[in-house]
Amino acid sequence: MSKVKIFQPVEQKKREAVAAPVTDAKAFHAVVDSRRSVRVYADDLIPDSVMKACMDAALKAPTSSNLQTWEIHHVVDSKKKAALVEACLSQPAAGTASELLVFVGRPDLWKRNNEWMVKALEERENVPRSALQYYKKITPLAYDQGWMGWRTPFKWAITRWRGRKKPYPREPIGKWGMRIWAHKTTALACAHFMLAMRAHGFDTCPMEGMDSARVKRLLNLPKQAVVTMVISAGKRADGGIYGERMRFDSAHFLHRH
Ligand SMILES: Cc1cc2nc3c(=O)[nH]c(=O)nc-3n(C[C@H](O)[C@H](O)[C@H](O)COP(=O)(O)O)c2cc1C
Repeated sequence: MSKVKIFQPVEQKKREAVAAPVTDAKAFHAVVDSRRSVRVYADDLIPDSVMKACMDAALKAPTSSNLQTWEIHHVVDSKKKAALVEACLSQPAAGTASELLVFVGRPDLWKRNNEWMVKALEERENVPRSALQYYKKITPLAYDQGWMGWRTPFKWAITRWRGRKKPYPREPIGKWGMRIWAHKTTALACAHFMLAMRAHGFDTCPMEGMDSARVKRLLNLPKQAVVTMVISAGKRADGGIYGERMRFDSAHFLHRH
């Protein structure tokens, strides 16, 4: 292990230390290693307390600028559930699940959440000025694409120009960029949720094999919302996992620079 310190803070600000609790790496890897996409579930139900704990765990995932542009729609109504299964192309992973959740990105709500953040910071004591400035100056620059995205070509041009000689943040640009931005944050919540479920002894299947337009209509979501994925949950049935886990040689994917 080598450590090269490139960045030396000029002055270490006085902040309270946040202790790093002792964690159980073995338990973590047991969760990761046993998480599989389950296509057929048994009839067991998931206690509400477990659902709540896992959804709370999902909302502890990292989120870009801490703007939390995600939503979890837990579909419990039987008619809506049936319609959601259909929108998931009647996959067994949806049809046999005891619980169905839709993870939704809300790029359109960045401004509302930004206002919440400013308000929350203003109500707190000892908030560094830089934190407030971040939400008053930087996030609007980064995320405001303008009405009908009118800023997009200007952002694109400014980004290219400013980024010629020194590092400049390139994304997100335009409405599609904002969608990707919201998907990233929401996908991390998905991963947290699936691992939390496994930690509680239950299983999941992420699904993008679905009709997102129908899912949005079912949940009354606006056009700008993005369905990151539907996740089914339950207890794996015997034979509910289709074969051994298959991964390509990690050498293809792990790069050291
Ligand atoms: C974004 C995403 C979408 C997926 N969509 C589906 C799906 O629609 N139906 C399905 O059965 N599995 C789906 N999967 C599960 C993958 O097929 C599965 O993760 C992959 O085969 C690896 O298996 P494992 O999850 O058991 O490790 C999806 C996974 C991801 C990450």
